[in-house]
Amino acid sequence: MAGKDQGTAEAASKHPIPPGFENALVSPEAYKEMYAASMADPDAFWGEQGKRIDWIKPYTKVKNTNFNFGEVSIKWFEDGELNVAANCIDRHLATRGDQVAIIWEPDGPETPAKHITYRELHDKVCRMANVLKDQGIQRGDRVVIYLPMIPEAAYAMLACARIGAIHSIVFAGFSPDALANRINDSEAKAVITADTAPRGGRRTPLKANADAALLHCKDSVRCLVVKHTGDQTTWTEGRDIDVLALMGAASADCPAEAMNAEDPLFILYTSGSTGKPKGVVHSSGGYLVYASMTQQMTFDYKDGDIFWCTADVGWVTGHSYIVYGPLANGATTVMFEGVPTYPDAGRFWAVCEKHKVNQFYTAPTAIRALMGQGPEWVEKYDLSSLRVLGSVGEPINPEAWVWYDKHVGKGRCPIVDTFWQTETGGHMITSLPGAIETKPGAATLPFFGVKPVVLTAEGGQVVEGNGVDGVLCIGDSWPGQMRTVWGDHQRFQETYFQQYKGYYFTGDGCRRDEDGYYWITGRVDDVINVSGHRMGTAEVESALVAHAKVAEAAVVGYPHEIKGQGIYAYVTLMNGVEPTEDLRKELVKWVRTEIGPIASPDLIQWAPGLPKTRSGKIMRRILRKIAENDFGALGDTSTLADPSVVDDLIDNRMNRG
Ligand code: PRX
Repeated sequence: MAGKDQGTAEAASKHPIPPGFENALVSPEAYKEMYAASMADPDAFWGEQGKRIDWIKPYTKVKNTNFNFGEVSIKWFEDGELNVAANCIDRHLATRGDQVAIIWEPDGPETPAKHITYRELHDKVCRMANVLKDQGIQRGDRVVIYLPMIPEAAYAMLACARIGAIHSIVFAGFSPDALANRINDSEAKAVITADTAPRGGRRTPLKANADAALLHCKDSVRCLVVKHTGDQTTWTEGRDIDVLALMGAASADCPAEAMNAEDPLFILYTSGSTGKPKGVVHSSGGYLVYASMTQQMTFDYKDGDIFWCTADVGWVTGHSYIVYGPLANGATTVMFEGVPTYPDAGRFWAVCEKHKVNQFYTAPTAIRALMGQGPEWVEKYDLSSLRVLGSVGEPINPEAWVWYDKHVGKGRCPIVDTFWQTETGGHMITSLPGAIETKPGAATLPFFGVKPVVLTAEGGQVVEGNGVDGVLCIGDSWPGQMRTVWGDHQRFQETYFQQYKGYYFTGDGCRRDEDGYYWITGRVDDVINVSGHRMGTAEVESALVAHAKVAEAAVVGYPHEIKGQGIYAYVTLMNGVEPTEDLRKELVKWVRTEIGPIASPDLIQWAPGLPKTRSGKIMRRILRKIAENDFGALGDTSTLADPSVVDDLIDNRMNRG
């Protein structure tokens, strides 16, 4: 989306830092100095920054990383020992035990919010940790968390961290199949779920989904159920455990395990351009240093502020900026169970007013959806507590940026457009409220320690200077970087380090403008970004071809007004199958069941044939152009085995907008 309006936005002057940020944590001068220091001597820079968290055994080594394909290895603070949960809870008890750690805002505004202090958090996390131990979960074991946005999700994450178990959260919108695949790939010993999950006034049957998933998993996998709504569910004696009841009876004392800095804290599955989702592995030490530092500096978080990140803990944004970053900093973090439009389009702003939120962090897709409802929904509420606004997940189109700035921020809140990825653990390119002037749609400048490099897509030549385009790579490691793909280090190397030797490849295209600002222009691989959710087109294709009536499928993204990108599927049916409206609906439903609602195709075009090269390779470039309704510039089609299929696809295209 950034590309469309980029020319005019780029030409526009920078938005100055609004008044009131003179005493921001990072000043313009400090940014320049600290950035230069982080580039000149990463060991010294991070050696100092590592001290922002507590170490049981201090590290003596800082950086030990290698980006060379075949030898890729990422280690930070490698001889240090710490416990992440103790950093997020215990170390705050003496000074802020009675401060609220988590404000939980339920789906429906009629249900009272919960205010959980650091002391209460300690109690709950220790109890849940003891329940896990009683179920035989030990250090290094994997635990899948399939929970809605309830405090127990944070307790579960921290309980795992406390005993050294590795959590793997599966977004509650994923289907039983997707859940089963993740339980099996990580060989998890237990799954923690809830009876049902209220969202936007409806309820997702999580426990029923877990039951269906567990049919495909080892019998030994335990199912810990949080009875959240009290809705009726089935119950398998011997396998299902009432976790809240056991927490009530458990001891509130649980020692925190001393973990090595490089011990995995969590696995989070994410989509790539090929094959099944990858288990992204994050470390304990480097990850926590990076999540806490970025949360504090990117949002200019100060003691006593109320911080609200609207993401779901099922995504990396929820890991780093609802739970680990804020809690490591002793912050008050808001956790919201609901959706922006329930009970009406004013809900986000009602919550901001109610809890006097100071930093608000959301996704462009939410801004666009609310923008469409009109500014009157924002204007009903007192948003004077807001100081900093954030954006994440996809390029923010300048129109949405300007609306966010004007109606939500009233022109006095800097917008931090944070570019990063599941793989990066925390922000990579972002403005800082008191230090970096903004431009609508630009991620702006790199965070400390991050070395962006622009390369030519073909050939991988380094592109120097400003006013240039290319693919975005990172030249050296930073502490929050993923360490490996769970169980497949080779895949880690091939995915990120093979194509452009010596660099970490983000998969994104970018432009560095005349001022040296970075603009992320979107993925250059077969990953699409739907409402800020990352989706591999290959995953949707394999779900479609698993349907008995489908012979072949090709999936691409196309511009979508609200979602950023929509899912466009070309489907070739089996011989003799009639293409009907009912079948179209059936296929959409099928994909929802196979992967989850976020993967539902927006448009399905019946394709009697797909454009293929003579060697049988589908020419996606052509399919993308047709889906974008931009078929005037199809480029070279001479290598196609049968060029006539293209005319048929154009004639019957689904997007004529
Ligand atoms: O394409 C970029 C886009 O989201 C991708 C990462 O997706 P995921 O791993 O799901 O993490 C999303 C939340 C961190 C990136 O490769 N992306 C993320 N943030 C931005 C963005 N594109 C442009 N601007 C951003 N601020």
